Amino acid sequence: MIFDSQLEASKEAFRWVKESMEAGAEVLGLATGSSPETLYQLLRESDLDFRETVSINLDEYYGLAPDHPQSYHSYMEDQLFHAKPFKESYLPDGTQADAGQETARYDQILVDHPIDLQILGIGTNAHIGFNEPGAPFDGRTQRVDLAPATIQANQRFFGSLDEVPRQAYSMGIGSIMEAKEIILLAFGQAKAGAIQASIEGPVTEAVPASILQRHPHVLVLLDREAASDLSPETLSQVKQAQV
Ligand code: GLP
Repeated sequence: MIFDSQLEASKEAFRWVKESMEAGAEVLGLATGSSPETLYQLLRESDLDFRETVSINLDEYYGLAPDHPQSYHSYMEDQLFHAKPFKESYLPDGTQADAGQETARYDQILVDHPIDLQILGIGTNAHIGFNEPGAPFDGRTQRVDLAPATIQANQRFFGSLDEVPRQAYSMGIGSIMEAKEIILLAFGQAKAGAIQASIEGPVTEAVPASILQRHPHVLVLLDREAASDLSPETLSQVKQAQV
């Protein structure tokens, strides 16, 4: 669906989250970045109660302690958890040097708590979570190298390029695809190419988000800028929101 603004698209995402919760969703998969910020604002301001809900985040920078201001632990605390505590909230531990131990721990969390609804953003290179181009479609949690484009894009959150971590722990694409429902949020011109390739291009590991074409329950919420590279054929098929 295409909206005039991030706010209107996020209101639709909020409706989906609310309906999923009312339908019995017990586990939410959460994302970070600027794309879900408005959704989190709507959740903070809502009367939804997450105290019986489990949250599982997609990823965390390797090398950042939870209390680092740019860690995804800090992001989630600021954006949502301080206002809306969950029963349990899981993120990868960016301080765990033993990748085998941390990825096994996280994969077990995903086995114990199958995700009902996954929120996703998308990188300018079509990454989902921190699954960069070339990541295997059947992948599980891994410690990954960030692509140069991702380091560049995320520089805005750090003091300098040098301060951006070069690695992260990320849930794998195989786990993301096991979520029962997925909401993909993308806003702004910088995402137009990634959205076009993911929706209209071939399903290929070179374009991580293209795998979503094979998921049975995906809601793609875009603003006009993020949708601006889509073909007239695609645009004629997608719902233009009446806002
Ligand atoms: C980050 C995160 C992704 C996120 C993406 C887009 O690197 N690891 O989960 O979807 O980049 O971020 P933004 O929404 O700020 O554009």
